[in-house]
Amino acid sequence: AAPSTKVENGGLFGLSSEEFRDVISPDANERESTVSITVVGASGDLAKKKIFPALFALYYEDCLPKHFTIFGYARSKMTDAELRTMVSRTLTCRIDKRENCNEKMEQFLKRCFYHSGQYDSEDNFAELDKKLREHEAGRLSNRLFYLSIPPNIFIEVVKSASNSASSKNGWTRVIVEKPFGRDSDSSAALTNGLKQYLEEDQIFRIDHYLGKELVENLSILRFSNLVFEPLWSRQYIRNVQLIFSEDFGTEGRGGYFDSYGIIRDIMQNHLLQILALFAMETPVSLDAEDIRNEKVKVLRSMRPLQLEDVVVGQYKSHTKGGVKYPGYTDDKTVPSGSLTPTFAAAALFIDNARWDGVPFLMKAGKALHTKRAEIRVQFRHVPGNLYKRTFGTDLDRATNELVIRVQPDEAIYLKINNKIPGLGMRLDRSNLNLLYSSRYSKEIPDAYERLLLDAIEGERRLFIRSDELDAAWELFTPLLKELEEKKIAPELYPYGSRGPVGAHYLAAKYNVRWG
Ligand code: NDP
Ligand code: BG6
Repeated sequence: AAPSTKVENGGLFGLSSEEFRDVISPDANERESTVSITVVGASGDLAKKKIFPALFALYYEDCLPKHFTIFGYARSKMTDAELRTMVSRTLTCRIDKRENCNEKMEQFLKRCFYHSGQYDSEDNFAELDKKLREHEAGRLSNRLFYLSIPPNIFIEVVKSASNSASSKNGWTRVIVEKPFGRDSDSSAALTNGLKQYLEEDQIFRIDHYLGKELVENLSILRFSNLVFEPLWSRQYIRNVQLIFSEDFGTEGRGGYFDSYGIIRDIMQNHLLQILALFAMETPVSLDAEDIRNEKVKVLRSMRPLQLEDVVVGQYKSHTKGGVKYPGYTDDKTVPSGSLTPTFAAAALFIDNARWDGVPFLMKAGKALHTKRAEIRVQFRHVPGNLYKRTFGTDLDRATNELVIRVQPDEAIYLKINNKIPGLGMRLDRSNLNLLYSSRYSKEIPDAYERLLLDAIEGERRLFIRSDELDAAWELFTPLLKELEEKKIAPELYPYGSRGPVGAHYLAAKYNVRWG
């Protein structure tokens, strides 16, 4: 489907099922094709939590093609019935809570199957292939593999699957989950490994933040509203803040987290992707390659991060209201004395004509006081502001701020100065507020729904191309090496706090106050 069709129709989820089917399968021949989706690592956390529920939501919305089959694949022994029971526990009907989804769930589960096999066994994947062919029943076969497994086995799975279970007459696509390496070298090795068996256009590197509604909306906000784009530069913007915070620790994922840390887990991918979309030049078209070309350009215009522009932190235990919240190193899967940051703040710069000198401040942390993901754009002062005196010395309070709240409670609001009604002349800061829950009655789809649908459709716009990935690692690799080589100790902050004070000094260095 052409991206422009989606935009004109206000998004795929705004289409009726009939219209939708026409968009994804424009001709009758295509309707006779099948899509087989294999979730590799189906016994795992992500598969249960996100992938199967997202596939169900797509099915519920009539977004999956007429002929589709879903297979779980992992080493664990399970029957089809056991997989269905496992999957059914996490299926929720997010679309319309009032509606009884049971019938649809049952229909969906009937189309889910399981095959147990080793990840490096071409024979086991050949068995899977046989089962897939039975379900495809001679129709044109399209196959999507979702690698929901630890990264050290990506290549062996791709090798076995492409040799034994790729489609013979349709497309074969592979969705790869992060982490895409730990640094430039390991990421390049992973890309080279994948490319021994796949073409770049078969690889769908997922960054689920790109599938979030408000991140996708960034381009619409910028490029289809006259009031924003002219202000989108160093001339009017003082600083941009990209904030990710979670109010829980690494609970249960300490083992994975300790070898990555917050910079690799959140900044190098989720926040940097948002930054690239925020700061890129206008793409030639909405075509995936045009958008990704602009993202690469902006990433390549950025300065690699400098140690003096970075603050790292790690949460420590804290007792509040009689409850003891554990510190990061209290997790048994985390080595004692670990220096892995669970918090980081950084100042980044884009050395191009549009953004020269504008600090882009990133902040990401676990076990903080709140859960939120936001983009905050602070505008410059009004030159010769007539109402300057009304604000006293704190002129910063008088500047406009645009906030794009990615989650929770999705919203876009603009802080403006306004006269308090009455006979006096007093100003206050008010919000022009677009709160999604008040404006739109439909539930916002989960990021994985959007991304899975795009992968089925072959829409690459929201997936990471290998040169984007290289450019992203180039920015972060020197810093990550320096942090590790110099064994920089993270500043400790209590669980549930606002994070290390160092983040405020860093912001102050660039005359920024965190929003
Ligand atoms: P899991 O650790 O739950 O692993 C998934 C499955 O892979 C397991 O059920 C297991 O299946 C198999 N597996 C686990 N460890 C090994 C191993 N050492 N060798 C071989 N097989 C193994 O991972 P998640 O489901 O949490 O995540 C899957 C992928 O998605 C990972 O790459 C992760 O980094 C990424 N991711 C996860 C997120 C999450 O919220 N969970 C968020 C973002 C990304 P079996 O033993 O049955 O073969
Ligand atoms: C994942 C990180 O990519 O994103 C996790 O590995 C993090 O550490 C998660 O918790 C946050 O995603 P979301 O969609 O819940 O904000």
